[in-house]
Amino acid sequence: MSEFISKIRTIQWVDNCSRMVDQTKVPYEFKYVDIKSGQEMFDAIKTMIVRGAPAIGIAGAHGVVLYAMELKKENLSRDTFIKKLLEKADYMATSRPTAVNLMWAVEKQKEVIKNSTSDIDGIIEELKQNGIKLENEDIKINKKIGDYGAEVVPKGATILTHCNAGALATVGYGTALGVVRSAFAKDNTIQVFADETRPRQQGARITTLELTMDGIPTTLITDGMCSYFMKKKMIDMVVVGADRIAANGDTANKIGTYTVAIAAKYHNIPFYIAAPLSTIDTSIKTGDEIVIEERSREEVTHINGKIICAPEVNVINPGFDVTPHELIAGIITEVGILRPNYNESIKKAFS
Ligand code: MRU
Repeated sequence: MSEFISKIRTIQWVDNCSRMVDQTKVPYEFKYVDIKSGQEMFDAIKTMIVRGAPAIGIAGAHGVVLYAMELKKENLSRDTFIKKLLEKADYMATSRPTAVNLMWAVEKQKEVIKNSTSDIDGIIEELKQNGIKLENEDIKINKKIGDYGAEVVPKGATILTHCNAGALATVGYGTALGVVRSAFAKDNTIQVFADETRPRQQGARITTLELTMDGIPTTLITDGMCSYFMKKKMIDMVVVGADRIAANGDTANKIGTYTVAIAAKYHNIPFYIAAPLSTIDTSIKTGDEIVIEERSREEVTHINGKIICAPEVNVINPGFDVTPHELIAGIITEVGILRPNYNESIKKAFS
């Protein structure tokens, strides 16, 4: 049981469909669902059956394969098949707006379509193989992120994390929690504080499940508590994931991350981002250009189907915020830890 989550594959192409853990049910149930059509995949991403930037990237890639399989049944000419498939791919990329891994992975599939010289069956096969390749690479990348990140975890450290950037947010192993896993393998005296992460509670529901199942000591705190524990010197470092990183290092991650970063700066605690290079969007100069997803009022007004506020109250529910690069000690990637000046270190990482 203790190795259970470390070895899990959150999303996998199997039997001509995309098999994924239904994350809306975690931790009450841990079950897989098979996504069998392009529209089902669009909805699975939008409703967060699959979530976490790298995981929704793979979901988007699988979604393009599913659309290709559907279009094949329409007996179109090769040219019309390609035209329609590229349109469907663009639609898939709009299922959520903030995590750039989704657009990145869909673009990888579009390159396969545009560069292929095969017939329709051949294109579908190439798309499947590319999706499987992206899946396998994701786990390898996360292990590299974990190894680089473990080098900056002090002995016996208490690490604060926000949201879930774990195995369940990726194909497996995780980014921020990959760093925790690799550090714990070297030093089993480290421990984690997990923010609950309102409103969808990915920290409480998913991160605590992942870490406790792997035997990593974990303490759940509510989102407003981080500065209290920082002042008491009970937090040694912060590691979180990312949904999109601009060329200057500004980083979008789950709403509440920015607050944690400000508190960490005030208390002189290093604040790290752990993310693959596919999360870096070099086409945008700063975080001001990142589109922030607005989610439903019900996520805030209700808990487990029960209203928790005055029914008519105004609600605003941005899903993400942007942490300015000045607050980030380093961005842990598969090619090493990028340090300020991020404009330069990011450029170098891509060269
Ligand atoms: O809305 P979510 O649950 O998809 O948001 C997830 C996060 O913000 C994660 O921290 C981020 O995607 C990194 S996952 C490795």
